[in-house]
Amino acid sequence: MPETANTKVWFITGTSSGLGLHLVKAVLARGDLVIATVRDKSKLENIEDRFPAEDSPEGQRLRVVDLDVTLGIELISRVVESAIEVWGRIDVLVNNAAYAEIGAFEELGSRAFRAMYDINVFGVIDVTNAVLPHMRERRSGTIVQVGSRLAWEAERPGRSIFASSKAAVHAFTESLASEVLPFNIHVLSFQPGGFRTEAILATPIHSVNPIRDYDDLRTRMVDRLTVATEKVLVGDPRKGMNVLVDVVRGEGKAQGNQLPRYLVLGPGAAEVVIEKCRVMQEAAQEWRWVTEDLWLDT
Ligand SMILES: NC(=O)c1ccc[n+]([C@@H]2O[C@H](COP(=O)([O-])OP(=O)(O)OC[C@H]3O[C@@H](n4cnc5c(N)ncnc54)[C@H](OP(=O)(O)O)[C@@H]3O)[C@@H](O)[C@H]2O)c1
Repeated sequence: MPETANTKVWFITGTSSGLGLHLVKAVLARGDLVIATVRDKSKLENIEDRFPAEDSPEGQRLRVVDLDVTLGIELISRVVESAIEVWGRIDVLVNNAAYAEIGAFEELGSRAFRAMYDINVFGVIDVTNAVLPHMRERRSGTIVQVGSRLAWEAERPGRSIFASSKAAVHAFTESLASEVLPFNIHVLSFQPGGFRTEAILATPIHSVNPIRDYDDLRTRMVDRLTVATEKVLVGDPRKGMNVLVDVVRGEGKAQGNQLPRYLVLGPGAAEVVIEKCRVMQEAAQEWRWVTEDLWLDT
């Protein structure tokens, strides 16, 4: 498929599996060009079965490159510069790479938080930092930051590590969006939930540092994860990623629409966000009498 005025070049992180891999396929099916990054190609089993063959029409519009998002800004910038050279530009950056883990805060400890934040938060920050100069110079670009529905329902045990990392991504994204809009760079806060992917099915319950007081909680978390897998994780990642491409390209289901600021996607995801907003609204109203009359006396 030859390049047209509408052809976009996508740079997508974390495409070895799950939503990232489905997104690569959905983007290629629209005729766009993709730099798909994986943590380490040499450690990826059956890489040739995951991605379209290099000599196929779709494979010719795809480059799979190594990128561990924890490499740091200098090395990430080099990968990004090489990626830009392939088709001369990056139109759409999707910060998809992330890691999920569940555990009681005290059993996880701050070291586990730093390790997860290195991927889920600083990975997003570094890759964004590396791509932005290019988009700013071109006065054009779209950035999709992959957050999570769980940031809106963090009030259950075991979720502090993952939910807080994604909440950081949400807040970072909101402010970033307002800073780069004058350069015609549009930022989408994408908040998926409920898609049945490899990560979700394999999400480990942290038990490296077991504390007896948390034994019951750990058992409940394992039970809940099993139930969640059957009842909550009912979203089809292929359909979900097709909708994401529609939204970014303003076609299909999103025909004629501008890129929104937020996209909450997946079975039950919208309901979670709506309920959280209701609870927060109620809390703010209910305690308003305490917050009144706190102005500096003039
Ligand atoms: N599935 C859902 O419903 C859901 C819900 C909420 C949020 N999300 C978010 O959606 C995104 C995709 O999740 P998924 O469900 O598709 O999970 P997944 O299948 O595990 O995909 C995560 C990807 O991130 C990659 N990754 C992890 N650490 C990395 C690193 N240091 N450098 C580069 N790549 C790294 C993984 O690569 P390796 O194979 O090398 O580990 C994998 O390709 C994540 O941001 C996740 O938090 C998904």
